[in-house]
Amino acid sequence: MANFVPADEFDLVIFGGTGDLALRKLLPALYHRVGDGQITGDSRIIAASRRDVARDDYLQSVEQALRSNLPDGEFREEQWANLRGRIHYARCDATTPEDWGALVGLLDGRDHLVRVAYLATAPRLFGPVAQGLSQNGLITPSSRIVLEKPLGRDFESAGKINDQVGRCFAENQIYRIDHYLGKETVQNLLALRFANSLFEPLWRRGAIDHVQITVAEDLGVGGRVEFYDRIGALRDMVQNHLMQLVCLVAMEAPSSLHHDSVRDEKIKVLRALRPMKGEQIRSNTVRGQYRAGAINGEAVKGYLEELDGKASKTETFVALKLEIDNWRWSNTPFYVRTGKRLPAKHSEIVIQFQDVPHSIFPEQGFEIQSNRLTIRLQPDEGVELSVMAKEPGPGGFELRPVALDLSFEEAFDIRYPDAYERLLMEVLRGNPALFMRRDEVEAAWYWIDAIIAGWEETNHKVESYVAGSWGPAGAVSMLDRNGHTWQPEG
Ligand code: BG6
Repeated sequence: MANFVPADEFDLVIFGGTGDLALRKLLPALYHRVGDGQITGDSRIIAASRRDVARDDYLQSVEQALRSNLPDGEFREEQWANLRGRIHYARCDATTPEDWGALVGLLDGRDHLVRVAYLATAPRLFGPVAQGLSQNGLITPSSRIVLEKPLGRDFESAGKINDQVGRCFAENQIYRIDHYLGKETVQNLLALRFANSLFEPLWRRGAIDHVQITVAEDLGVGGRVEFYDRIGALRDMVQNHLMQLVCLVAMEAPSSLHHDSVRDEKIKVLRALRPMKGEQIRSNTVRGQYRAGAINGEAVKGYLEELDGKASKTETFVALKLEIDNWRWSNTPFYVRTGKRLPAKHSEIVIQFQDVPHSIFPEQGFEIQSNRLTIRLQPDEGVELSVMAKEPGPGGFELRPVALDLSFEEAFDIRYPDAYERLLMEVLRGNPALFMRRDEVEAAWYWIDAIIAGWEETNHKVESYVAGSWGPAGAVSMLDRNGHTWQPEG
């Protein structure tokens, strides 16, 4: 049975309160937490944005967003009435000093409550909002600030943002979001590795042949095409989500779940990543861009058509071969890939164990497949271990792989909360373990920047792939050269 401990009373100010993230993710997350009784007393949510919107009109747009984003039957009048009563609206252009009055008025006399500023805005506003909060005396000892990604577009810009925010908030008050860390299955990876003694002796070179991480999306870039064209898949997905997954798979056991214990171990992995340069850029990185194709039988446009024919070398797909230079992972490649307009929304981590050293079974038309542990992140969250088994029946040995399959949904029989529900509650409770520390973000950018520079220097090719396929041919040959194959097959 889930344990829903209420948060202390709070004021949560969402900058960018009329934006897509607030309406599609944050307010539905708060709606569910209200439903489970975790938001109590006089806690309030204050949406702040540049727009001049009356509170009632804002409430209407929230109600509409909830009705269209919640699964059928989950909108309940009573629950909405509870949330609605807590929502306020303040017009605030963060860059205009005289524009903070409404917010100051709403927060007046409430310094004793937990105060969270959630910046669901463009990163160029992170510094000005932090400064505005400071200049208007709105930062209290129990204040926290939440920064949404992208945190800059390279090492240098991330450093500048961190400096600007760091002048107003202490590091332990800054919560940098990577929503993948709030996903239940990502956290289950910690449980799998560190609450079971079975895996640890095998979790290393010698037993593991290689690791694969796939984060595939069937969606294209949608309404974000202009933004996305300046960013690309490497910055949008690899620098944060995929690097975090690599860290959780590869890190040593932290001594506890204390936030700095976990983050200290993650950063060691980032620092052990072999820098990509020269020949490695050519052989260990693949960029792709989708052209028109079909997904689930429906025709979809190519990326350049979505850009109205504008020329672009922005990648919508990336595959990388990573080497981690430490004792545990020496010569054990980690392959990662992510892309838009792939056949399905499908994310998983595959731990591929080594082949048996010698087969005692007579060759009878079957192959002994090496064991594979698959951690399915989405959809159908779960863990699957493939083992070889004998087919029942007399006469000889016919072996085939079978799966020991654990579906979390079936095992626990509860609704899977969205990552934002957990992350918001962790911020309100003051637990930064699931958020990125400054040095982590900067170490990840440092490693990614070398790839971007390498791509520019070598004019690295952007291979085209058909929407609905598993990406460009180069991603398949990158593994093929090492005798490996993507799972699911590319
Ligand atoms: C975001 C990216 O961080 O993650 C998006 O900016 C991407 O481009 C999204 O679609 C994927 O998240 P999820 O939770 O749907 O896998």
